[in-house]
Amino acid sequence: MNSYLKDKVVVITGASSGIGKALADIAFESGAKVAVCARNLSKLMEVFSKNSASENLLLLQADVSNEADCGKFIDAIVQKWNGIDILINNAGMSMRALFDELDLKVLKELMDVNFWGTVYTTKAALPYIKKSKGTIAGISSIAGYRGLPARTGYSSSKFAMQGFLESLRTELLHTGVNVMWASPGFTASNIRNVALGANGTAQKETPLAEDKLMSAETCAGIIYQGIEKRKRSIVMTSQGKMTVFLNKLFPGFMDNMVFNHFAKEPGSPLKK
Ligand SMILES: NC(=O)c1ccc[n+]([C@@H]2O[C@H](COP(=O)([O-])OP(=O)(O)OC[C@H]3O[C@@H](n4cnc5c(N)ncnc54)[C@H](OP(=O)(O)O)[C@@H]3O)[C@@H](O)[C@H]2O)c1
Repeated sequence: MNSYLKDKVVVITGASSGIGKALADIAFESGAKVAVCARNLSKLMEVFSKNSASENLLLLQADVSNEADCGKFIDAIVQKWNGIDILINNAGMSMRALFDELDLKVLKELMDVNFWGTVYTTKAALPYIKKSKGTIAGISSIAGYRGLPARTGYSSSKFAMQGFLESLRTELLHTGVNVMWASPGFTASNIRNVALGANGTAQKETPLAEDKLMSAETCAGIIYQGIEKRKRSIVMTSQGKMTVFLNKLFPGFMDNMVFNHFAKEPGSPLKK
């Protein structure tokens, strides 16, 4: 429960699993009006079946890489609740493949979802968030601060997302709108199972012990604390904080550290 969220209109993209699902659950349980989307509507309905009849929950199909879908998603919310207080650009996907072997359609797809999805949804929601003096948040990653090997498309999309949000934050500085990006460290979710390989098919298994990672619920709670405090950015997990800090001071040293870390992952495509 988070009393700050009560009666607010909270919009979350990509909420049928992981961090988005946890963000939606917390907002709903806190008395917010919650609108969520994903590409697969039947999965979204199944995941929220307990509360799907509630007047405070709106489940919609939208592919955030499609500008028209994003516009229709926001229009439907405004028609129902007449405004938006908080937009969380969460929908995202990952990849694992060497750039040398990568079909560039994978890199384009990651940019379309992670970067353009944020741009399209934010553009459609901005007039309403300016009215409410609310918050625009983006779920970035440590990969948005430090380029990660075998994740060229993922890191590119998250650097682009952060650049976009930092520019927009500065443009909106005197409007009362807060723009924030949150960068989780490794968090338990479905993201690594559906991460794309070199030819664009899902890798289908995670190389990490998901049960040892930060939970999506903890991650979502930290994101709402940041939104409530109108923070600029949040970096999560001690490993994530250390990576961002060391990379600022010793980027060359971190090239080796990061390579060695990812080379040790089961099934890593990295080789010395
Ligand atoms: N988990 C981590 O370790 C981690 C770390 C740092 C940052 N993040 C970021 O956190 C965010 C959420 O990731 P997660 O880990 O919770 O992943 P997840 O469990 O795979 O959930 C991703 C959600 O996004 C939706 N989605 C994917 N593509 C979409 C599209 N084109 N349009 C609309 N919805 C779409 C998926 O549903 P459909 O497939 O039905 O569309 C799903 O609901 C992402 O932006 C990710 O980059 C995650």
